[in-house]
Amino acid sequence: MKTCGKIVILTGAGVSAESGLGTFRDTDGLWANTRIEEVATPQAFARDPAKVHAFYNMRRRAAAAARPNAAHFALARLQEHWPAPVILITQNVDGLHAAAGGAALQMHGALSGALCAECGHRWSAPVEMTPRDLCPRCGAAATRPDIVWFGEMPHHMAEIEAHLGDCMLFVAIGTSGAVYPAAGFGAGVARRGIETLEINAAATDVSAIFDRHIIGRASQVVPAWVAQLLDRDPA
Ligand code: APR
Repeated sequence: MKTCGKIVILTGAGVSAESGLGTFRDTDGLWANTRIEEVATPQAFARDPAKVHAFYNMRRRAAAAARPNAAHFALARLQEHWPAPVILITQNVDGLHAAAGGAALQMHGALSGALCAECGHRWSAPVEMTPRDLCPRCGAAATRPDIVWFGEMPHHMAEIEAHLGDCMLFVAIGTSGAVYPAAGFGAGVARRGIETLEINAAATDVSAIFDRHIIGRASQVVPAWVAQLLDRDPA
């Protein structure tokens, strides 16, 4: 690997699995027991806002009780000590990268956020949200979780594309590569000859795209990978 250039890291639910938060597509994952169409689309929210709020209230409670694991802390350490930018993009909405001292682009939003579907106002979400909540700015009963649902455009895409265009290494950690646009990031940088690394507990459907693979649990292998990087290219 060329030394000391920009590193772009994409994380998914696997990086928070050892913090006790469920993934989506593992055998015991969230989508094993709940249908996406019933809780994670604008149509689901229009049809049954109470059901959607209940799903995210459950996830918000779980995220509030979770603590960052060694993988989150290691990535924050890499951001602090690597002598070039380390851009952390997360599909997770649990806030654990920030809780570990990291700075992450939360492309799918955040459980800690509330959004008014009427006026676009954003504020800190209460632990429990209901369809009766009123927007603190416009008063409309149109409050929703500040989460990007299927069919909606993820946040920070222009910034993400710019970083993908001028990094020296792209790393995907704990993501199945099942959901676009994030699933396409690896192929896009590989086409430009940028080095790619996949860190995951198992092979994924997109593993063939990556130059290198580290197989293991994130809380074990991510700190080891960061230590190897920093010891080899200290700040
Ligand atoms: N360490 C490393 N990887 C792990 C661990 C672990 N302890 N546990 C699970 N994994 C890996 C799995 O092998 C899998 O590849 O994490 C990945 C989790 O995949 P998904 O459950 O599909 O989660 P993710 O890739 O983040 O999903 C992407 O889909 O449903 C939407 O919006 C949701 O952001 C989510 C998006």
